[in-house]
Amino acid sequence: LLKKRRAAMAARRRIAVVGASRGIGLALVEALAERGERVVAVCRRASAELAELGVPVVEGVELTDTATVAVLRDALGDESLDALIYSAGINITFDGDVETVDVEQLALEYQVNTIGAVAVVQAVLPLLVEGSKVLLVTTGSGAAGRNARSAGNYGYRMSKAALNTFGFLLAGELEPRGIAVLLVTPGPTDTDMLRAVVDAGRTPGGGAPPRDVARLLVQRLDELSLETSGSWLARDGAPVLA
Ligand SMILES: NC(=O)c1ccc[n+]([C@@H]2O[C@H](COP(=O)([O-])OP(=O)(O)OC[C@H]3O[C@@H](n4cnc5c(N)ncnc54)[C@H](OP(=O)(O)O)[C@@H]3O)[C@@H](O)[C@H]2O)c1
Repeated sequence: LLKKRRAAMAARRRIAVVGASRGIGLALVEALAERGERVVAVCRRASAELAELGVPVVEGVELTDTATVAVLRDALGDESLDALIYSAGINITFDGDVETVDVEQLALEYQVNTIGAVAVVQAVLPLLVEGSKVLLVTTGSGAAGRNARSAGNYGYRMSKAALNTFGFLLAGELEPRGIAVLLVTPGPTDTDMLRAVVDAGRTPGGGAPPRDVARLLVQRLDELSLETSGSWLARDGAPVLA
């Protein structure tokens, strides 16, 4: 009964998921739609898997082009958003060390992983109201400071550390408006992103199925409140930074 009541209470929220074409973002769209939320899937181009879900899709949002991100505001209309989830990300500099890292690629990682998030939040801010939530999908390897002292992956880790800082700043700024912000680390997940790093021999495989991870991330979103705003959590809810 409690489960049913919880589901009914949580149902029919309007939630935008950015990076919805594949991977964790796609799984989040599926998990949210399955329990009756009104999901808006935001992407460059809908994949066949996304189209199959039959949810409203906003296409044409290229995160390296802030002009297309601004269009999101109009595409979403005037109705408020209960939640915004930013799951888009790229990890393309994992093969370089400081001598070889391609700084153009590093800039691209910042654009998608960090600046895109800022541009998206700017675009949808007028739709976020008291009680709305923002979930930023980050990575544990984006920890700043001494924790970061292991080999390589400069652009990904630096840009995610910057995303984390954005999340902390945003939580502080939006708190007086009653909007909660959470950074969440999905952990190794079996998606194209992880597979590319595994195929390059940089990390062992064994990522969790995206569906399972999405279900946990939705729990983190459910639990998020103004009291916990500004936290950085692993998928199981354990604090990444105590
Ligand atoms: N998988 C893991 O093990 C893992 C671990 C820790 C953190 N994460 C984080 O989880 C999030 C999701 O990752 P994932 O594993 O699901 O990756 P993924 O399967 O590679 O999916 C990445 C998503 O980002 C979108 N994207 C990339 N570049 C874009 C651009 N320029 N404009 C618009 N959209 C763009 C992709 O859209 P297109 O289809 O259009 O390219 C796709 O929807 C990322 O933030 C990642 O850093 C993943």
